[in-house]
Amino acid sequence: MRLPRIPTRGAGPANFEQIWANLPFPAFVLNRADQLSQTNGAGEQMVKISAKILRNRSVGSVFGEDSVIADTVAQARAKSGSLMQYNVDVALTDLQPARCNVHVGPLGGDTDDLLLIIQPTGVAQKMSRSLTHMAAARSVVAMSAMLAHELRNPLAGISGAAQLLAMNASDEDRELTELIQEETRRIGKLIDRVEHFGDDRPTQRSAVNIHDVLDRAVRAAQAGFASHVKFSVDYDPSLPDAAGDSDQLLQVFQNLIKNAAEAVDGTRGKIKLRTSYNSGVKFAVAGKRTENLPLQIDITDNGHGIADSLISEIFDPFVTSKSNGSGLGLPLVSKIITGHGGLIDCDSTPGRTTFTLRLPLWQENMGLL
Ligand SMILES: Nc1ncnc2c1ncn2[C@@H]1O[C@H](COP(=O)(O)OP(=O)(O)OP(=O)(O)O)[C@@H](O)[C@H]1O
Ligand SMILES: [Mg+2]
Repeated sequence: MRLPRIPTRGAGPANFEQIWANLPFPAFVLNRADQLSQTNGAGEQMVKISAKILRNRSVGSVFGEDSVIADTVAQARAKSGSLMQYNVDVALTDLQPARCNVHVGPLGGDTDDLLLIIQPTGVAQKMSRSLTHMAAARSVVAMSAMLAHELRNPLAGISGAAQLLAMNASDEDRELTELIQEETRRIGKLIDRVEHFGDDRPTQRSAVNIHDVLDRAVRAAQAGFASHVKFSVDYDPSLPDAAGDSDQLLQVFQNLIKNAAEAVDGTRGKIKLRTSYNSGVKFAVAGKRTENLPLQIDITDNGHGIADSLISEIFDPFVTSKSNGSGLGLPLVSKIITGHGGLIDCDSTPGRTTFTLRLPLWQENMGLL
């Protein structure tokens, strides 16, 4: 099939072939026997087969005879019209099924060809999940102010009284007063963490070298809680600076690395830090301008993974699977990242858990968000 040329004006040569090749969604043209006659670049990437080799292979042999795609094509043929299937799982051999919208419709003109477009919806869903985290973090902000105010004074009283009792106590009783003090210290630390949420000042952004901050987080982890873990890095050396608050981002990386270190198995534990530049990711927050989020940071561990029943809630406050966990690490991470105008998400299977952060680029004249 030859694609017709678009009449061009001013901006230089542009034609349907270019548009077809650069369409960001997998797209395929099917001939009247439902064989693939054309495939664009995104389509080749999706099925991991070149357009040349795909030519004249049937839809069923590429996507599966019983697949949603083969079924949608058959239905579109039967009614000689267009069909759109929303949020269906498209599975390809040896790949995880991906949630997609599938469109099949006549290509028009004087042919019986069909146009098949597959639009992955995963990114959009992840973005809306991230917005939910923002709402959860806001509810913690309100509660934290009350908690900190109400708990600090009585706690100081309990700790002081235990100190007084300890002065005249027998050895046996002193053990108990020490226990009281130890536990009040623990509650004090918890209040400190909760109070982080109460800090509602806008994020002061400056140019941040992400690799420096990641390295600081790794060094601190290796000297302490993650001394048993093997770290590896895969940094994009040309990664530009992020727009961020380096102290807050350090907290983010420390929390994610701590969770990873707590999930991995004794001596076989591995944590991998990867950075990359991904120019295609944009994110619009209601009422705010669109942010470009090209800086990607992946923190991957080979630990036990997150249970399916927990994964949709891990960014909510007080969700924990640990006997001594507060469930405040990830909500704080989420609050900081969304405060940066960024995105965070997580993919987890047993043996491989990845937290992905996306952050905006530093530009001159940025400052207060
Ligand atoms: N890398 C990971 N691997 C497996 N599970 C994880 C990972 N990261 C987070 N989780 C799960 O998410 C839960 C919430 O994490 P979060 O950091 O918010 O709280 P926590 O680690 O339990 O407690 P805290 O961070 O306050 O000490 C954890 O209890 C754990 O079940
Ligand atoms: Mg944690």
